[in-house]
Amino acid sequence: MTPRARVRVAESFRRGLETYHSAARTQAQIARDLVLMLRGNGAPAGFAKALEFGCGTGHLTEALVQSFDLDTLYLNDLLPEAADLAARSVAPLCPKVLTGPVESLDLPTGIDLIASASTVQWVLDWPKVLDRLCDALAPKGWLALSGFGTNQYHELTVLSSGGAAPNYMDAQDWPRILPLGMELLEIRQTPIVVTFDSAREVLRHLRRTGVNGRAGDQWTREQLQRFETAYHDRFEQDGKVTLTYDPVMLIARKA
Ligand SMILES: C[S@@+](CC[C@H](N)C(=O)[O-])C[C@H]1O[C@@H](n2cnc3c(N)ncnc32)[C@H](O)[C@@H]1O
Repeated sequence: MTPRARVRVAESFRRGLETYHSAARTQAQIARDLVLMLRGNGAPAGFAKALEFGCGTGHLTEALVQSFDLDTLYLNDLLPEAADLAARSVAPLCPKVLTGPVESLDLPTGIDLIASASTVQWVLDWPKVLDRLCDALAPKGWLALSGFGTNQYHELTVLSSGGAAPNYMDAQDWPRILPLGMELLEIRQTPIVVTFDSAREVLRHLRRTGVNGRAGDQWTREQLQRFETAYHDRFEQDGKVTLTYDPVMLIARKA
């Protein structure tokens, strides 16, 4: 991603920030499911040092603090205002907000849990970043991540609306990039199909979540009309249109 493209991603999330928390119901569900997976795979009741990157407005942050005793939680997001927002509700646990792209973070060491929901699809050179993150994990440390597979927003891909994230990965892509010494305990890829009253509502939803926020942005009225007609032609069922989320969630542990 060029620096300009990174700025566009940040702008898109910034614009959706106020509405993200309530509009991103699917991401909220994914965050809760990720925490359940962590529990289901035998994670301990508490972690001394945890890091969450791409925390956004705190869907995963909330689910983590509700389920685990955390002594220290480092929060990161590309947007300082997002990380500040998430940190506010967990202030006593959060010594410092780490803002900026996770790719260039100065990572704490000896971390017991690294968690992130719905963010790795935006991270550049992800295998290298994953290596660094796993290095920062303490022995027996836990990794709980979710991203999206190549079927993410397939309706938009089919209609070539643009704005896709740079790093969609399917479940089968993960084992080969997990660093040596990390054991994959569970991985899941289960699509979630959401319905809307109209294609225009889909665009509104994307804008409100800041995700693919650029879809439809610079279109003329005619282009918008063409997009809406094509969306209804291809993806209308029983008077509603679909939008597919393709979450990939995994739990891994360091030896
Ligand atoms: C879809 S939101 C997910 C937020 C939250 N984790 C959740 O589950 O609701 C993605 C977040 O990742 C952040 N982000 C995007 N690229 C990033 C990067 N390279 N490093 C850190 N955060 C990033 C965005 O600012 C946004 O807040």
